[in-house]
Amino acid sequence: MNETIKTILTRRSVRKYKPEQFSAEILQQILGAGLHAPSAMGRQPWHIVVVRGLDKIAEVNREVKAATARMSDNPYKDYVGSEAYTVNYHAPTFVIVSGNTTASPRNAPFDCALFLGNMFLAAHSLGIGSCWINQLNVLNDEPGFRKYMTRIGIPNANQIFGCACFGYADCPPPAAAARKENTVVIVE
Ligand SMILES: Cc1cc2nc3c(=O)[nH]c(=O)nc-3n(C[C@H](O)[C@H](O)[C@H](O)COP(=O)(O)O)c2cc1C
Repeated sequence: MNETIKTILTRRSVRKYKPEQFSAEILQQILGAGLHAPSAMGRQPWHIVVVRGLDKIAEVNREVKAATARMSDNPYKDYVGSEAYTVNYHAPTFVIVSGNTTASPRNAPFDCALFLGNMFLAAHSLGIGSCWINQLNVLNDEPGFRKYMTRIGIPNANQIFGCACFGYADCPPPAAAARKENTVVIVE
């Protein structure tokens, strides 16, 4: 089995992290992998905000919790409202991926998902754990949170489609769930 396939098969979502930060060089390699993801028509409609350090991420966490509490129809209300919830599972790097829905109205979410997928695989190949974080995706239209998005540099034309935390895993990799059967048909 080649190294790429091995990386794909052994990556797992990590939900417990050591507080130590990984290097800027590793971060650049992870981001570089994201930047080389395919995108519809090659439009690269993504914009990335990297939040480094537990103090700065605590600010994101506070804003997410406050915005979620202000919404009556937020599907994550109970989950995010719980005391134990953090946006980052205490990982020291948090990445917010938003896409320009004016430039690429139909495909920006898919392009952003591929950006995240590339980062997860690159991170794993470099010994860094990761996990997709979904709770910011439903905050784009919450006025207070939109102000915060602007403050941290997310363009007004963009919607957050996914986030990710990264860091050194503080737990053994969880076992992979069994793959569903009968999801692939080969027609020849
Ligand atoms: C679109 C999407 C949203 C996800 N959102 C979250 C999330 O908010 N929090 C979380 O802990 N994991 C999240 N995950 C991770 C999945 O739970 C995880 O990929 C799945 O359980 C399979 O486990 P594995 O990644 O270890 O193979 C998300 C994954 C995807 C693709």
